[in-house]
Amino acid sequence: MFAALHQRAGVAELVDAPDSKSGFLGSVGSSPTTRTIDCQESFLSQPDNSAEPEYAVEIEGLSKIYGGSNKQAPKHALKDVSLKIRRGSFFGLLGPNGAGKSTLINILAGLVNKTDGSAKIWGHDIDADMRAARRSIGVVPQELNIDPFFTPRELLDLQAGLYGVPEAERQTDEVLEAVGLSDKAEAYTRSLSGGMRRRLLVGKAMVHRPPVLVLDEPSAGVDVDLRRQLWTHVKRMNDEGITVLLTTHYLEEAEALCDEIAIINHGRIVACEPTVDMLGRLDARELQVTLAKPADGVPTELGAYNPVLSAPDCLTVSFAPSKTPARKVLADIEKAGLEVADFSTKESDLEDIFIRLTHDDADDAA
Ligand SMILES: Nc1ncnc2c1ncn2[C@@H]1O[C@H](COP(=O)(O)OP(=O)(O)OP(=O)(O)O)[C@@H](O)[C@H]1O
Ligand SMILES: [Mg+2]
Repeated sequence: MFAALHQRAGVAELVDAPDSKSGFLGSVGSSPTTRTIDCQESFLSQPDNSAEPEYAVEIEGLSKIYGGSNKQAPKHALKDVSLKIRRGSFFGLLGPNGAGKSTLINILAGLVNKTDGSAKIWGHDIDADMRAARRSIGVVPQELNIDPFFTPRELLDLQAGLYGVPEAERQTDEVLEAVGLSDKAEAYTRSLSGGMRRRLLVGKAMVHRPPVLVLDEPSAGVDVDLRRQLWTHVKRMNDEGITVLLTTHYLEEAEALCDEIAIINHGRIVACEPTVDMLGRLDARELQVTLAKPADGVPTELGAYNPVLSAPDCLTVSFAPSKTPARKVLADIEKAGLEVADFSTKESDLEDIFIRLTHDDADDAA
């Protein structure tokens, strides 16, 4: 459901649309109002969010067992997965190869049948209210499945048709602009680069203006520049109220973009919390010290800090900040007869947490 958008001379008047973050692909808020917005900033009609759910996606006890075939044993790909994704959040689903990320996403998209459990998208149950659930979600699949003989404009029009968006309400030019492909609108898709195709898939997922956008490893195989561009577009959509669910192998990407992160391993959620809490989980920090004079070896007194002398004047020690303040570590180093010329500390990052959590869970691989 989207509120009407009346256009007048480059200015759009939004009727009965929510009064909050104005945006180009969606908007979140609750109080009905009439306001004027600039078409340059907000060029797609706004969802009527009169019945906005607290959670964009709610998954409860979801399981999936793929049936075995020939010599292939059945695969328990999802095991009792429960997740709640807040409306408006940028949510990261991380996990190693085969963890169950695509299975979960494909169940939400209606491409894979679940074995057990339930899921709601934008408050619509995927079983009881399948059509509304499908309308509420746009999925960018892991595989680049674009027909090479269509132009981006034709593909977006086709997709809009599939979703029953009437021609008069289609916003193909706006979607093309939103994903930075206006100048490629009439080009054959086969002439687009990998990153452009990925962005076209984002556009395809958005033509029916769903409030939830799901991206299954969208940056795989995309170079650094195009990845940055893609994230600028997706971040902008999220800033304007679209809930984003992202799977990625690039941990630094998830750390930078996502406000909440779940880690899945062997079909089970092993952690789910706000990114800042997740990063605060590991009570471990490294202190890298440049010594004023080269050392022959590591003094035994520093054994508790797991010292490593990577060069005669470069010592790295580890400590738990909740138990030992950094100044005590520095004092202990000096007490051991080493003179500190300079130092820096390194916080644990998502990669450390990811490795720890997915390794702890290794015995659950069945
Ligand atoms: N159609 C299928 N039939 C049988 N097994 C399947 C099928 N699809 C996926 N699987 C298995 O289910 C498990 C989860 O696969 P899934 O594709 O969900 O993982 P993923 O986390 O998306 O991995 P990746 O990071 O490699 O994309 C894997 O062991 C996979 O081999
Ligand atoms: Mg996958």
